[in-house]
Amino acid sequence: NIGNSTNIRWHDCPVRKVDRQELLQQKGCVIWITGLSGSGKSTLACALSRSLHSRGKLTYVLDGDNVRHGLNRDLSFNPEDRAENIRRIGEVAKLFADAGLICIASLISPFRKDRAACRALLPEGDFIEVFMDVPVEVCEARDPKGLYKLARAGKIKSFTGIDDPYEPPADCEIVLQLKEQGCTSPSEMAEIVRSYLEEKG
Ligand code: PPS
Repeated sequence: NIGNSTNIRWHDCPVRKVDRQELLQQKGCVIWITGLSGSGKSTLACALSRSLHSRGKLTYVLDGDNVRHGLNRDLSFNPEDRAENIRRIGEVAKLFADAGLICIASLISPFRKDRAACRALLPEGDFIEVFMDVPVEVCEARDPKGLYKLARAGKIKSFTGIDDPYEPPADCEIVLQLKEQGCTSPSEMAEIVRSYLEEKG
């Protein structure tokens, strides 16, 4: 009995993950980018995807904003729906990793327990959590979509970092901080992540 389904059985396919990885000459994994709105998650995801793609690696970006246009269009921003948004993206990312792709998931994913649940879906070492450690004041000053302004005006409720919580990772693989703290352009940030992946094989 899995979830609400009964009488279901797992079927194995003779073409396995290792076979797909061999074909692609890469290891399927999930790079999970978390952080506030405006922290640069999507920019990093795209820079990393471009960098890996140019080196012959097959990637796919799952962006929270984009997935909410389709698969997750029925979900709001209350805690239960955010949890479901993250759960679904975690499951899809797991499938992509199983397909042999380097899946780059970029979503606020504000709650530790939801991120931990996604990590638990993958084998040890195959879930790489990247924290865009950008203070809310900086994200608000950037305000690329004008959403912080709307949130301050009370026109968006439960906006992460304003009137809804964000729980920073206590222990993640990579923390990317601002220029003053050592991190610079999106391509340099992507390079930090890419080097990490290379180092870990
Ligand atoms: S979550 O928390 O992981 O489910 O969020 P996510 O799927 O990444 O979607 C975040 C984008 O939705 C827009 N948006 C909001 N963000 C936070 N709080 C509220 N209330 C909200 N309403 C809309 C916003 O554009 C986020 O995009 P990013 O790319 O993070 O700026």
